[in-house]
Amino acid sequence: MSTSVMDPGTAMMTLMTREGKRDPYPLYEALRSYGPLLRLGPDQLVVTGHAECFRALREPGLLSTDGPVQDRMMPGWRDHSSWVWLAQNMLFSNSPDHERYRRFFSGAFTPRRIAEMRPVVERLIDELVDRLAELGADGRPVDFMAEFAFRVPMAVVGHLIGIPKEDWPDFRGPVGDITTALEPIRDLAQLDRGDGGMDWMADYFADLVAKRRADPTDDLVSQMTRARDEGGELSEEELIANFMLLLVAGTEAPMDLIGNAMRLAVEHPQHADRLREDPELAPGFIEETLRFDPAAQALNRMAATDLDFFGVPLTAGTKVTLLIAAGNRDLRRFADPLTFDPYRSGNHALTFSGGAHFCLGAALARMMAERAIPQVLRRFPGITLAGEPTFRDQLVQRGFDQLPVKCG
Ligand code: HEM
Repeated sequence: MSTSVMDPGTAMMTLMTREGKRDPYPLYEALRSYGPLLRLGPDQLVVTGHAECFRALREPGLLSTDGPVQDRMMPGWRDHSSWVWLAQNMLFSNSPDHERYRRFFSGAFTPRRIAEMRPVVERLIDELVDRLAELGADGRPVDFMAEFAFRVPMAVVGHLIGIPKEDWPDFRGPVGDITTALEPIRDLAQLDRGDGGMDWMADYFADLVAKRRADPTDDLVSQMTRARDEGGELSEEELIANFMLLLVAGTEAPMDLIGNAMRLAVEHPQHADRLREDPELAPGFIEETLRFDPAAQALNRMAATDLDFFGVPLTAGTKVTLLIAAGNRDLRRFADPLTFDPYRSGNHALTFSGGAHFCLGAALARMMAERAIPQVLRRFPGITLAGEPTFRDQLVQRGFDQLPVKCG
C-alpha cells in the first residue's frame, strides 16, 4: 500500500515490521498527514509534531516509564531482570528518585569535566583511526560499526567509567541485547535477550565496584562508589543500575550517531569534501545527522493524571508515544525538512530529549562524533561503501548492524 494513503493504524503496524524499521520516514509522513497529535484508541496518543514533542518532554504530568508506570504498561515485567534494573536508573524514574540519581551523577558531566576530557577523547579516536587504516589496508572491506563506530564511544566511556581496556570488546553484545528491551513488545519472552545482557553486565559491575572499593583509582566507579559509601544517597543496586545506564546510553546511541553520520557523508560527497577541508563544519554536520537520521527515534511517556494536551483531553494512564524523529522533520519547524542540509542554522532537533531527562551525555556525544567523522574523512579520502549496509531490527534505537566500507 502506498504510504500516502495509509490509515494511521496500518502506518503504526507497518512501523513495527522489519521493512518499516529500515525506512520509517515515509511512515512518519503518513502519520503526520493526520495532524501532529493522533489518537490511536482511547488510551494511546501518538505525537509527530515538533512543538508538541517539545512541550510533552517538559510537561510534569507526563511520566517516564518507572516501576509503577510499567505495572500498567507491561504487567509481568518484575520477573525480567532487564526491566528490574532499568527501573532503578535515572532515565526510567520520576521525581523524587530522578532528581536524587541525577544530582548524584551530574557532577561527572559538567561542561568543565567534559572539556577536560577532550585531549583523551582525541587521542583515543586517533588511535582507532590508525587501527582502521591497518584493518582496511589494501582495500580490504571493514565493518565500520564493529571496528570503529562502537569502539569510539566504548573507549571514551570505558575510560571515563574505569573499565579495563582488555574488557571493552566484551561489551558490544550485551549492550546491543539490553537495548532490545526498550523496543515495543507483544510478548514478555521478547525481554529474554535483554535479561541475558543485563545479568551479564550487572555481574560485571558488581565485581568492578567491589574491586574499586577495595583498591580505588581516579575513575568514575571509584569516585561514585566512595561518594555512595560516605553519603548513602543511593543503594548499592541503584549505583550499579546507573553505571549500567551510563555504559549503555553512552555507547549504543553514539555508535549509531557515528554510523549514521558516516553513511550520510558517503552519500553526500560534496558535503564530505567540504568537511574534509574545514573540520569547523563538523558541529553543523553532526547536528544535522541528529535531526535527519537520529539514533533515538521514539520516547514513551504516560499521563499521570487527567490533563489537557494541546486541546486533547488525556485521561490518567494514557500512553503517549513521542515520535521525535518525526518531529525532527516537521515542516512547521524546519524549512525543507526532508533534505539533509548540514549548513542549516537554528537546528533544534529533539534527539537528545528535553526537560528533566535531557541527555546527560549530549556534550560528550557531540565531542566524539565531531572529532571522529572529520578524522576518518581526512585520513581516507576515497572511503566508500563495500556492500549493502544491514540495519538492526529495532525502531527506538536506530542504527546499522553492519556498515561495510573500503577505506580507499
Ligand atoms: C548520539 C548520542 C546520544 C543520544 C541520541 C542520546 C539520547 C538520549 C535521550 C533521547 C535521552 C532521554 C530519553 C527520555 O527523555 O526519555 C537520554 C538520556 C540520557 N543519556 Fe543520552 N544520548 C546519547 C549519548 C549519551 C552519552 C554519551 C551518555 C553518557 C556518557 C548518555 C547518558 C544519558 C543519561 C545518563 C540519560 C538519562 C538522563 C535523565 O534521565 O536525567 N547519553 N539520552
